[in-house]
Amino acid sequence: MTDVGTPAEPVFEFNSLMQPEFSKCPWPYYKQMRDTNPVLRAGNGVTEFVFIARHEDIDRVLHAPRLFSSRPDESQSGDPLIPITFDPPEHSKWRRILDPMFSPREMAKLEDGIAQRANGLIDGFVERGECDYANEYAVPLPCLVFMQLMGFPLEEFETFVDIKERILRGGGESFQSQDPVQRQARDQIDTRIAELLDERRREPRDDLLTRLLNTEIEGRPLTHEELMGTCNLLFIAGLDTVTDSLSCFYAFLATNPVHRQRIVEDPDVIPKAVEEMLRYESPVTMVLPRLVTEETELGGCPVHAGDRIVPLLGSANNDESVVENPHVVDFDRPAMRHYAFGGGVHRCLGSHLARLELHISLREWHRRIPEYHIPDGVELKYAALLRQVEHLPLVFDKVVA
Ligand code: HEM
Repeated sequence: MTDVGTPAEPVFEFNSLMQPEFSKCPWPYYKQMRDTNPVLRAGNGVTEFVFIARHEDIDRVLHAPRLFSSRPDESQSGDPLIPITFDPPEHSKWRRILDPMFSPREMAKLEDGIAQRANGLIDGFVERGECDYANEYAVPLPCLVFMQLMGFPLEEFETFVDIKERILRGGGESFQSQDPVQRQARDQIDTRIAELLDERRREPRDDLLTRLLNTEIEGRPLTHEELMGTCNLLFIAGLDTVTDSLSCFYAFLATNPVHRQRIVEDPDVIPKAVEEMLRYESPVTMVLPRLVTEETELGGCPVHAGDRIVPLLGSANNDESVVENPHVVDFDRPAMRHYAFGGGVHRCLGSHLARLELHISLREWHRRIPEYHIPDGVELKYAALLRQVEHLPLVFDKVVA
């Protein structure tokens, strides 16, 4: 058990989520907000959101989809992302057909392939005694696993990652911007996914593109728009979040040798370590903003129909009213229901896949590279919104042949 400390106390503002300082060290912002402004209405003259920080309020919003809807407002363009932009009962129909594709039993079939991929990547750099962790492990491992599962061509790996980067991070510093870079990237992936769906119509394969084409909802096949909305969300959700988590975890483990040593000596602790690091790091900082459908209140503050609520997941996960000593990363903490995968009906569809990838990658890596550090003088830079260490050089102090 190590106390990771509480840094100085900055102030959470409208654009904080987009700032690298926030991404690197969000905990003091969360705490300041919970203590002084747990329901914060903030805007930039164009857009306004209500940011919420306390576990109690976030829990309520995530579990009341009728009052706090996930449907997009008029300002958001493009086809609906399925199932995330639907509310129950429509949403439940989609989860009924998608859940079996990502069930623990389906995902368990990927275990050997993930371990082989992890070891193949480690083979590529282990003898060098160092690696560029993001580019050589955290990006390719989950992206290649997910692309293979979907049926996206692996030789287009770099193009797919580049498109995903432009969609998620091409909008510059402004929260919720609709930048031309993002629009162009969306068009590019739409075209490619439509081509791949056409190819699978002609030549079915053992992949999720084919499975989606053969799936029925309410006794009919999915329309083209529905296929595109589903594939687009899977593309965005599947290609970034595990990379974000891996890079946050390894930055933590590289600087906290006691925790790392525990994983090396007792690999059985890995599932608990993953949950605790997901809780503490909360790489996905927020869920999709929720649209208030009728006048109500949150934490005693009035909110109105049309307001958009942004629940800060990392703040809920580090709220001292539900987590004892939240700044202590404790792999032996009693199991708790954290919100790193969201909560309520939209709780992450890919959580079983994500957990499997995180478990296997930690297990294989620490079996072969038990000791490593970040070279002196390296200033880590975290990408905004989805917390990802963009450049994480690691030097190995011990490798196992
Ligand atoms: C550690 C990795 C991951 C984290 C931290 C994460 C986090 C989240 C969160 C917070 C939500 C809730 C969004 C909301 O309520 O608005 C969510 C939903 C979702 N995630 Fe993940 N995710 C991860 C991995 C994945 C993967 C690998 C996939 C690929 C299948 C995936 C697919 C989805 C989908 C489709 C939804 C929408 C579910 C719905 O609306 O019912 N996620 N995820």
